[in-house]
Amino acid sequence: MELVTGLAAMQARARELERNGKRIGLVPTMGYLHQGHLSLVHLLRPHCHQLWLSIFVNPAQFGPSEDLARYPRDLERDLDLCRAAGVDGVLVPRASEVYPADFATWVVPGPAADRYCGAMRPGHFRGVLSIVLRLFMWTRCRCAAFGAKDAQQLWLIRRMVKDFNLEVELMEGPTLREADGLAMSSRNVYLDVEERREALTLHQALEVGKAAVAAGLPLKEALCAMSKHLAVHPKLQLEYLHITDWESLDSLVGVGGDPAWAGSAGDMDEAGREMALLVAARVGRTRLIDNMRVVRGPLAQSPDPATSSTLQG
Ligand code: PAF
Repeated sequence: MELVTGLAAMQARARELERNGKRIGLVPTMGYLHQGHLSLVHLLRPHCHQLWLSIFVNPAQFGPSEDLARYPRDLERDLDLCRAAGVDGVLVPRASEVYPADFATWVVPGPAADRYCGAMRPGHFRGVLSIVLRLFMWTRCRCAAFGAKDAQQLWLIRRMVKDFNLEVELMEGPTLREADGLAMSSRNVYLDVEERREALTLHQALEVGKAAVAAGLPLKEALCAMSKHLAVHPKLQLEYLHITDWESLDSLVGVGGDPAWAGSAGDMDEAGREMALLVAARVGRTRLIDNMRVVRGPLAQSPDPATSSTLQG
């Protein structure tokens, strides 16, 4: 397995591979790999000749009070995992080369980056899109895989690929979960035993929402049921919770994450429509996100119209 740290070396190697007719696939990561990342490697493998993985904890996507300094890192372990997974090459760029003192050019995402995670983490997606575009360029990848857990990130990357006509085929890997349902994340390592237990409620709330949406309950009731489930856990601080259209990620109903977006999908509530449940919460000092794809069941009449007005769209 090759290990490259210099950007010029990566560009030269990518050019050479391309000249030899090799299609390069990339799995961009911030390291501290888990099964979710490795599943992206396996997803991408059949679609490329050369499979590369990048490891870079990108400072530009962390806010000033976020966890950049304590973000978990273990390069040797990551490299062992990559070797075992059959990765052909790993790019570990140096921060000083990625962001030299005079670095000045950024990808500015559209307004869809200002809602949900973007509302809670201003500038986050500008940092993400800027590094992803540059990773695509350095590696000359023709396909790349991202996890479905970061639904808004993937949506914005898709949008960038479309808007810039990038010749990169995007693959979406399903969210991998621990046996008890907790979505795999490098940040799970921060959780103590009690927080780990509380963190599970995110997935449980999504299951509650999924059942309610599938049963055809009014969306405000489904939202209410989810937020009630989350509210009983004292260490859990909800950031946002939305039921959205699956395609556009526009909100049908929701709270938090710039509520101005809530209801932005308008009247799209019909049986058979694909929707997404999006949630973000802090458990102690750890910020966790999760989401679930759901299909709207045949609409049922609310047994208690009063609850429909307790949450503002
Ligand atoms: O999802 C991540 O790990 C990061 O946001 C990414 C896509 C590697 C960009 O730094």
